[in-house]
Amino acid sequence: MSLIKTSSTYISVISVWFLPWTVMAQPAAIAMPDIYSAQTAKQILMQGGNAVDAAVASAFVLAVTYPEAGNLGGGGFLTLFEPNKQSNNATHEPNQGKSYFLDYREKAPLAAFRDLYLDSNKAVVPYRSLVGYQASGVPGTVRGMWKVHQRFGHLPWKRLLSSAIQLAKQGFVVSEPLAQRAIWYQQWIIDKSPIPLNYTAYFADLKTNSIFKQPELAKTLTLIAEQGADAFYTGKIAQQIVKQMQKPESMADKGLITLADLKGYQAIWRQPVQGQWQGRTIVSAPPPSSGGIAIIQLLKMKSLLEESHKPSWLKAEANLPEQAFKAHVYAELEKRVYADRAFYLGDPDFIDVPIKQLISETYLTSRIKGVLLDNISDTESLKPGKLESPETTHFSIIDSQGMAVSNTYTLNMPFGSGVVIEGAGFLMNDEMDDFSTKPGVANVFGVVGGKANEIAPSKRMLSSMSPTIVLKGGQVEMVVGTPGGSTIITSVFQAIVNVVESGMSAQQAVDAPRVHHQLLPVNQIAYNPELSDATKAALELMGYHLKHNSYMGDVQLIANINGHWQAASDKRGQGVSEVFSLD
Ligand code: DON
Repeated sequence: MSLIKTSSTYISVISVWFLPWTVMAQPAAIAMPDIYSAQTAKQILMQGGNAVDAAVASAFVLAVTYPEAGNLGGGGFLTLFEPNKQSNNATHEPNQGKSYFLDYREKAPLAAFRDLYLDSNKAVVPYRSLVGYQASGVPGTVRGMWKVHQRFGHLPWKRLLSSAIQLAKQGFVVSEPLAQRAIWYQQWIIDKSPIPLNYTAYFADLKTNSIFKQPELAKTLTLIAEQGADAFYTGKIAQQIVKQMQKPESMADKGLITLADLKGYQAIWRQPVQGQWQGRTIVSAPPPSSGGIAIIQLLKMKSLLEESHKPSWLKAEANLPEQAFKAHVYAELEKRVYADRAFYLGDPDFIDVPIKQLISETYLTSRIKGVLLDNISDTESLKPGKLESPETTHFSIIDSQGMAVSNTYTLNMPFGSGVVIEGAGFLMNDEMDDFSTKPGVANVFGVVGGKANEIAPSKRMLSSMSPTIVLKGGQVEMVVGTPGGSTIITSVFQAIVNVVESGMSAQQAVDAPRVHHQLLPVNQIAYNPELSDATKAALELMGYHLKHNSYMGDVQLIANINGHWQAASDKRGQGVSEVFSLD
C-alpha cells in the first residue's frame, strides 16, 4: 500500500523543446489508475509498442489488479488520436491527424424487455438491475480490446496479455483501498440478492498487503491470449458464461445472456463527438455516452455566458468567494445539461440523438437564457437528471509519436453484479442499471430517465463515461478522463477549464476541489474535497444544500502546458503518472 501511495504523488515533467507538430519523437506519458497498469504501460511503450498496445496491455492488467472496475465482464469507451504519419516539415503546417472512437459498451441481452425489472404491479423490483444474474449486459471489453488492436496495434496480441497473465498467476499485493472496497461490497450485497452470490468466495476475503492470486482468471487470460476475442465470444469462455447464467434454480433468478448474445456482440467504431472551444477541438464520447455532448455543452455555455453577460458576470463574481461563484455558475449550466441528458440521450442505434443541435451555438445561446448569475434559477421547469454510483476506471496514454488513447471502462458498481463466472474467475457487470428501469420514474438510486433510454433487446444503456482528447493546432494538448458515474462529466469539464482558463498545472488541475450539480436533488451541490467556510456560507445563503461526496472521480490527465508535457493522477485515487523519454 505505501508503495502505491508514495508513487501516486510523483510526476515528472520533461521539456518539449521542439515544435509540437514536427514528427520528431516526443516523450511518452501515462496517467494510470494503479501502479501495475502504470508499470505495464511504460514497459510496453519502452519496448516499442504504441499507445494502443499500452492501452490493451493495461486494460487486461487492470482486470486482474483492479477487480472492482478493471474487467473482462464489463464494457467501455476508447477515444483515440492517430497523428498523420506524413511529415509536414517543409511547410511547418500543423500535421493534422485523425480521431476515432470505439464503443465497446455492454448491450442488453436479446431476452431483455422494457419492463424487465418491474413486478406484476409495474413497480420496480429493488436492486434487480444492480445485483445478481439479471443485472448484466453482454460484455464488450474483450471484443473492444481485440478490435482496437486489430486496427491500430503494433506489438503481437499475445505479448500484450503476458503481464496480466503473470499477475493473475503469481498474484499482486492487495492495497488497502481494494481490501476496504471488497469488504464494503460484501456488506452491500448481502441483503440485496434473493440468492447467495459467489462474489463472497472469490473476493470477500481480500486482506491488505496479502498476495492475491487468481488462477482461474490466469487460465481465461491465457485462452484469450492464444485464441483472441473468439475464445470469449464463441469459445470456451462463452460456454462458461452461459453455464453460470443458468446456475440459479429459479427462472426468476437466472441470467439472460445466451450464446447467441455473445456471438452477436460487436464493438462499434463511431464518430467521436467534436466541438470547437477556445481555439481547440474537444474530442469525446458520443452516444451511447452522454459525456461528450455534455462536456462540450458545458464548455461552450460557459464561454457564451461569460461573453454575453460580461457586466453582470463581473458584478456577481465580485460579490461571492471565487469558489462559490464557480460552483454556482457550474450548477446553473449543469442542471440544463443533465435535463437534456435525461430527455434526449440513449443508444444512437435505437433513437435519433440530435447531437449537432445539442452542441450548436444557436441552441446553447438559447439554453443559457434562463441562467441567473446571482441567484438559483427554477428547477421545476427543467427535465430531471440522473444520479449514479462508483466504480469505473480510466487511463490516459500518449506515445512518442503523438498517438493518444483515452480509455474509460467499467463494471458499473464496484465488483459489478457480484456474480463471478466460475472456472473463468471474472466478475460480470451490472450495467443494466444504467437503463431507465421504468421511464419517468425514479429507480432505487433516485435515477430518472426518459423513453430514449428504456430497455430493449440488444440496446446499449446510456453512459456518462467520457474519455476525452483535446486538440490544439491539430495536435494533442490533453488526454483526460475519470470514473465517477454522473460526476464524470463535470469532473472532466472542470479539469479542462482548470488547465485552459485557470492556468493550473496538470497536478493542480486534477487535485483542485470539484463541485457537482445534476439537476436533482433540487439545488444540491456535491463537493470534494472540503470547500472553505466562506464558500460554503455563500452557497448556503443562495439556497444551495451542500453535500460532501466521499467519492468524486479519479482523473487521469496528460497535458501539454506551455510546451511541456505533464502527467497527473488525481490525489483522490491511487494512480501513477509519469512523463518519460524513450532514449
Ligand atoms: O456508464 C456509466 O456512466 C456508469 N456505468 C459508470 C459508473 C461509474 O463511473 C462508477 N464509477 N466510479
